[in-house]
Amino acid sequence: MKKRGIQSRDVAAAKAETLIEALPWINKMYGKTFVIKYGGSAMEDKELCARVVADIELMKLMGVRVVLVHGGGKAINALLKRLDVPVKFKDGLRVTDPDTMEAVREVLIGKVNQELVWALNEYGHNAVGISGADGKTLKAEVVDPELGRVGRVREVDTNLINTILDDGYIPVVASVGCAPDGFLNINADAAAGKIAEAMGADKLIYLTDVDGLLEDVNDPESLIAQMSRAETHELLDSGKLDGGMIPKIRSVASALDSGVQEVVIVNGKADHSLLLEIFTDEGCGTMFTQD
Ligand SMILES: Nc1ncnc2c1ncn2[C@@H]1O[C@H](COP(=O)(O)OP(=O)(O)OP(=O)(O)O)[C@@H](O)[C@H]1O
Ligand SMILES: [Mg+2]
Repeated sequence: MKKRGIQSRDVAAAKAETLIEALPWINKMYGKTFVIKYGGSAMEDKELCARVVADIELMKLMGVRVVLVHGGGKAINALLKRLDVPVKFKDGLRVTDPDTMEAVREVLIGKVNQELVWALNEYGHNAVGISGADGKTLKAEVVDPELGRVGRVREVDTNLINTILDDGYIPVVASVGCAPDGFLNINADAAAGKIAEAMGADKLIYLTDVDGLLEDVNDPESLIAQMSRAETHELLDSGKLDGGMIPKIRSVASALDSGVQEVVIVNGKADHSLLLEIFTDEGCGTMFTQD
């Protein structure tokens, strides 16, 4: 015989309460499409990564059609360093010579993508890894010959992603595009934005390594809670942004212009920020809305 203490009953009741509070949110999310971009910058700690993956899995089980797009900037830099290939960025985009392009493919498709698939599959037969070249999902063209094999998405073919979703899996997309003359390196923020636009996603979520968009990148207290479409364009035009925030905010503006209703940037290194984002009114991080 085993007795049940009052304390354990209280704990159980509190858990039940939390679940009931989540009901309206679950109801709202059911059947919606969320595109989540998981930044390589937030992926380094395996334990944190496992928690993010658990949040994504929970969303899926609650009926959200989740498309996961990932970056891998830091892991690519680490391989380039081992290979003694110099790392160069221009306006937040990686200058991609043919050696760098090989490293991008190796790391994004061969390593980061498969590690995410593996982590998601801990919860069942859940994830299918693809790159933008599979099913010609991301048809791309060269941005600027000075940047080498950097591509911009010309067209998204959503067929393969929808097939994977319809079969009950989570598509995990490595941001490599295809052009008639070979692979192109697509900034993962831009890839996620274009996929969200093409899918008519209800929400686009950027998981990165900072709390959101900061007014002053050196001051964590300067976090911006909300920004309208017009304000986002103003910020882009002001030239005040730098580094990885440039392609991110550019994609945010483009997604809003294309009718995505809500875009958020949240800290993928903060515990369960994804769940806070979808289960609370205030959310966390920076929310971008139409007005
Ligand atoms: N105004 C700003 N607010 C917040 N972060 C900023 C700002 N300006 C520049 N940044 C930089 O942008 C970085 C996030 O972009 P970064 O490209 O490094 O990561 P990611 O996109 O999440 O990952 P990956 O590029 O691997 O997919 C932050 O770590 C920060 O240093
Ligand atoms: Mg980035």
